[in-house]
Amino acid sequence: MRPGQLLTQLVSVLSLFLLSECTVASGIRQTFFPPSVPLAVRSPVFNTWLDTRGGQPSVSAVFANDVHITGWAGIARVDQVAYRLWGAPRAVNASTWLGTTVTPTRTIFTLQAGPMVLNVTFLSPIEPTDPVKQSFPGVYVYIDGGATDGKNHSVQLFSDISAEWVSNNLATAIDWSTTSTASAIYHQVQPSTLVHTFQDLPEDVVAWHAIALVGPLRSIHLKLTPLQSNPGRQSLVATDSALDAQLATNTTNLTLTSDLTGTTGLIENNGLFPIFAHLVDLGEVATIPTTSWAVGVVRDPITTFQNTARRSFWWSAYATLADAINAFVLDFDAAQTRALALDEQITTAATAISSQYADLVALGLRQALAGYELTISAAADGAFNTSDLVAFMKDTGNSQRVNPTEGLLGLMPALMYLNASMIGPLIEPLLRFQQTSAAGYDYALPDLGSPYPSAPGNTADNSDVGVENSGNMLILALAHARGTGDGTILGQYYTLFQRYASFTANNTFDPSQQTSDSLEPILQQDVANITNLGVKGIAGLRAMVQIAEAVGDEAGAAEYASLATKMTATWTDWTLFSAGASTSLGWVYRDGSSQGLMYNLYADKLLGLGAFDDSIYEAEANGYSTSNTYGVALSSDSNFMTRSDWTLFVAAALSDVSPTTRDALVAGVHARASNNATNGTFSNLYNVQTGAGVEQGISPNGFATPAQGAMMAVLALSTPNKTISVPSSLMHSSFSSPAPRGEAKGERSLHGLVLQTSGTLQKS
Ligand SMILES: *[C@@H]1O[C@H](CO)[C@@H](O)[C@H](O)[C@H]1NC(C)=O
Ligand SMILES: *[C@@H]1O[C@H](CO)[C@@H](O)[C@H](O)[C@H]1NC(C)=O
Ligand SMILES: *[C@@H]1O[C@H](CO)[C@@H](O)[C@H](O)[C@H]1NC(C)=O
Ligand SMILES: *[C@@H]1O[C@H](CO)[C@@H](O)[C@H](O)[C@H]1NC(C)=O
Ligand SMILES: *[C@@H]1O[C@H](CO)[C@@H](O)[C@H](O)[C@H]1NC(C)=O
Ligand SMILES: *[C@@H]1O[C@H](CO)[C@@H](O)[C@H](O)[C@H]1NC(C)=O
Ligand SMILES: *[C@@H]1O[C@H](CO)[C@@H](O)[C@H](O)[C@H]1NC(C)=O
Ligand SMILES: *[C@@H]1O[C@H](CO)[C@@H](O)[C@H](O)[C@H]1NC(C)=O
Ligand SMILES: *[C@@H]1O[C@H](CO)[C@@H](O)[C@H](O)[C@H]1NC(C)=O
Ligand SMILES: *[C@@H]1O[C@H](CO)[C@@H](O)[C@H](O)[C@H]1NC(C)=O
Ligand SMILES: *[C@@H]1O[C@H](CO)[C@@H](O)[C@H](O)[C@H]1NC(C)=O
Ligand SMILES: *[C@@H]1O[C@H](CO)[C@@H](O)[C@H](O)[C@H]1NC(C)=O
Repeated sequence: MRPGQLLTQLVSVLSLFLLSECTVASGIRQTFFPPSVPLAVRSPVFNTWLDTRGGQPSVSAVFANDVHITGWAGIARVDQVAYRLWGAPRAVNASTWLGTTVTPTRTIFTLQAGPMVLNVTFLSPIEPTDPVKQSFPGVYVYIDGGATDGKNHSVQLFSDISAEWVSNNLATAIDWSTTSTASAIYHQVQPSTLVHTFQDLPEDVVAWHAIALVGPLRSIHLKLTPLQSNPGRQSLVATDSALDAQLATNTTNLTLTSDLTGTTGLIENNGLFPIFAHLVDLGEVATIPTTSWAVGVVRDPITTFQNTARRSFWWSAYATLADAINAFVLDFDAAQTRALALDEQITTAATAISSQYADLVALGLRQALAGYELTISAAADGAFNTSDLVAFMKDTGNSQRVNPTEGLLGLMPALMYLNASMIGPLIEPLLRFQQTSAAGYDYALPDLGSPYPSAPGNTADNSDVGVENSGNMLILALAHARGTGDGTILGQYYTLFQRYASFTANNTFDPSQQTSDSLEPILQQDVANITNLGVKGIAGLRAMVQIAEAVGDEAGAAEYASLATKMTATWTDWTLFSAGASTSLGWVYRDGSSQGLMYNLYADKLLGLGAFDDSIYEAEANGYSTSNTYGVALSSDSNFMTRSDWTLFVAAALSDVSPTTRDALVAGVHARASNNATNGTFSNLYNVQTGAGVEQGISPNGFATPAQGAMMAVLALSTPNKTISVPSSLMHSSFSSPAPRGEAKGERSLHGLVLQTSGTLQKS
């Protein structure tokens, strides 16, 4: 491009922008600049983002790993000139990006295309009240807007996807088809051979792209071919370059034609990609009526667990994918209304904390929910058992593990706020597996195994992380019960919880226990004796007090409470340091020079466990500097690396005693989340001095992790505290409770429990 041309373009861009300011207000005053924004984020395998750093949205959409392109393009034709709106940098004119808005369910690009200002909205529904809708992996993209000059213009709107959504390998063979339902037309594409093991990109999915049928001729046109059946709309499969050339022609009556024959091919062939497209012709308009498309990626079954295929919950409501897509497309108006209402509710509540907090919630919530896959099983007759709820969470960005307990803990605040019932199915499979596993063990299992989507269960010896995982499970189980009032899980698995509690009481201060969730080499947590693990153990035992009370084991509750009180005293003795009037908490027992994010205090605060009094929280608020641009390091020996999820746990825990510290912690995470000099999807792992994250393709890098559900940690504090009710058949009153393993019935459940608080920790 010659310099003169550039100047002309800049001037024209500027004048268009000024014009838009005067007539159709763009409404954008952008203050939040994430390097990557969510477009379609509903599951571990349906997780597409857009890199914003080039200052224009027509760059390729990418998978959560920030590496693999998931081809998805939007084009607007205005007065016979085609403008790209989002996704692949296709061979048509650029539009001008006026700004980006992120809400909990939506990402909105405001764009100028010739004389029109358009809002392109990517809506990833969050449906906490309806498990059918929540589990169906679909998203909407919709366009509205209008002319800056108030005049009519000829407008056609176009969206397509490529088959890059269904495989990591561009040479993969694919099959496709186009189907009409009562209310929609959709293309679907899948690998010709499904491969059920994969790392990030699924190799066993169906991707689909749909648009609503319109007009009164719907039923008559059902008999016709898809291309003809949709007045004002055209649906076809062709190569990208063939369609770009047609869209770019200066013709008033655009009839798209395909250069492909048959229904099989490769994802990419000699530089050409088959694309699955829908065009809408709006005719002459000054205001663009809301025009929407739907896209989805379906895996079935989600996994096999304990020899049973686990299918997504939505299959209980629809016999076929076609039925489900039809319903999803028909539901667009209502889904949009629900999304706007949920966004309003959450944004209002979060903004009452701070606008920076509201930004973090908006960016983090979709990826949190995308970690949650609710499944059911089929009986022999094929009918679904919708009481058999098991949810799976892939530890996206951090490991390939399924339902790791520390990941569930990060996700938990989002579920606690939205619908605490959703926590139950996440812990159910861990408890169910351990209950029936021959491996036994007196501590909680760390996960269901790996790599996702394989969930064989974990029978390895994980005693060295037993306190961590047992504490997590006791906290999660109580959070579920407190948030719902439903104590069924507490009663059903009470003997397991007793084992976890005994193990926790016995081992919390054992230096061989480490904070397993900090063991990642990047965090450099290779020392033992970490005080934050002590908080986990004590909080876990305090949670057990309430669990025991709920199931009627009053004597057990008293004994757990007495142990916990002693442990808090010991912990405080070894952890709380005073210098003059100032107090602080150490990160390593008996080492006043160490410090770190005591994030396990959050469970105490959230669940009202009463494990630590305000003096401990005040000491924590004093204990570290918030002077680094990107927040507070995990600890004094973490090489300036931190985690955003744990930072938000501390921010929430300190909400009462020091709102100033809370806001400073939020500001650090916000500075990183809004730093477009970094790259990658919203990561929980980075350097607080430089903002640098971990490279793409290196695990762990925290990209798109569901643990960002912790952004909801402050809002979750307002969850109503329900009275827990346990079915009478599952009560464990102190004198009739089944004995734990290895003990004679009738003996006290806490037999043999000895609190080891002396002699084990002697720092020289
Ligand atoms: C990057 O962020 C800065 C604010 O920190 C903003 O001014 C700039 O416009 C952003 N760049 C892009 C391309 O969004
Ligand atoms: C669209 O692109 C063509 C070719 O690059 C260029 O000649 C034309 O001026 C552009 N039109 C507009 C409205 O920018
Ligand atoms: C919460 O979710 C569960 C299952 O996911 C659902 O059955 C229930 O109706 C939801 N509760 C509310 C209050 O929406
Ligand atoms: C476009 O989106 C912006 C930001 O959300 C909003 O202020 C504006 O009203 C929207 N415009 C239209 C036409 O919907
Ligand atoms: C735009 O066209 C519509 C018909 O499509 C017509 O009703 C309307 O009056 C026109 N508006 C303008 C401003 O020309
Ligand atoms: C399209 O063709 C019409 C009629 O030939 C002409 O007036 C108009 O300038 C052309 N538009 C573009 C963008 O080339
Ligand atoms: C375009 O199509 C409209 C409606 O079918 C018709 O009235 C018009 O004559 C066509 N124009 C051209 C240039 O073919
Ligand atoms: C359905 O699942 C629940 C929970 O796992 C189980 O208790 C019940 O027996 C199952 N019902 C049938 C008919 O299999
Ligand atoms: C707890 O420690 C005591 C004393 O060492 C031991 O007898 C008991 O078996 C331990 N319990 C568990 C669950 O490890
Ligand atoms: C919830 O209620 C229990 C039992 O009354 C109480 O111990 C706990 O502190 C309460 N939790 C919160 C967060 O208020
Ligand atoms: C993303 O950031 C990492 C580390 O911060 C860097 O190594 C990598 O080259 C960056 N990638 C891109 C595409 O900018
Ligand atoms: C942890 O405590 C043990 C037992 O007192 C001691 O041997 C070890 O040196 C301590 N480790 C650190 C890193 O302080």
